[in-house]
Amino acid sequence: MLLKDKVCIITGGAVNVGRAFCEQLLKNGAFIAIFDLDSDIGELCCAELKQQFGKNRIIFCHCDVTDFTQFEESFQMTKDTFGKIDILVNNAEISNDKFWELETDVNLNGFIRGSLLAYRFMSKDKGNEGGTIVNIGSSCSVKPFISSPIYCATKHAIVGLTKAYGNDYHYNLTGVRVICYCVGPTESDFSSHSRQNNNTPNHERARNIDMQGIRYQKLDHVAKELITVLLNASSGSLWIVRNDEKPSEFPFSNELF
Ligand SMILES: *[C@@H]1O[C@H](CO)[C@@H](O)[C@H](O)[C@H]1NC(C)=O
Ligand SMILES: *[C@@H]1O[C@H](CO)[C@@H](O)[C@H](O)[C@H]1NC(C)=O
Repeated sequence: MLLKDKVCIITGGAVNVGRAFCEQLLKNGAFIAIFDLDSDIGELCCAELKQQFGKNRIIFCHCDVTDFTQFEESFQMTKDTFGKIDILVNNAEISNDKFWELETDVNLNGFIRGSLLAYRFMSKDKGNEGGTIVNIGSSCSVKPFISSPIYCATKHAIVGLTKAYGNDYHYNLTGVRVICYCVGPTESDFSSHSRQNNNTPNHERARNIDMQGIRYQKLDHVAKELITVLLNASSGSLWIVRNDEKPSEFPFSNELF
């Protein structure tokens, strides 16, 4: 698949890894819709990217992924602007187990809302051209993370979402490929915001265990390798990028039982 002139939605696209994804997609010739909760940062990000990549390739949509109606309106605005939608990057997340209901609503339900809307706007059986959903996971999509069990649960859950929706059965019907891109510890995002989680001594101890031997990789590397994965990954596949290395496909059986 080529990315030139593809229309991509990136949730949580105004900061950190989301913004880095936007930049890489633009560099590869895509049109992008930045969906973000924060209008000030979103508008600013949009203005900066327009200066760099041209006025007509980028829009910002104020979007809270916990609000289905707003999410739907943002999809519609993207379609009205660019004429179609090709790729959804489900990226918006929070990492704070103290606010676990919100965390689940963003990290899991938000990905589900995005997927349902992506099917409506991209699916071949609804008269569209097909497309791709990328679910952004983390290292705790595939290993336990003892300092944030609920965050870890949401990140595991989207693996199931990817494997089931990504199965040939759905792919054959809809032409929508579903892949999961798991981003290991990365400078800027992980280091800063998980820290606000909880600072009791016990939590610090759990965090230290989780963080043993961790090396933060470059944001730019994570974003560039998303492009490689977008170009190559088959539906239902799960990829991990860590330690500034090339992404590797994570083996995952479809036929254990
Ligand atoms: C999907 O389509 C492919 C190619 O036509 C076919 O080989 C495969 O059996 C189909 N899979 C399912 C689950 O329908
Ligand atoms: C992706 O596919 C291209 C072309 O088939 C190949 O050259 C490249 O090595 C692949 N990259 C990965 C990470 O598999």
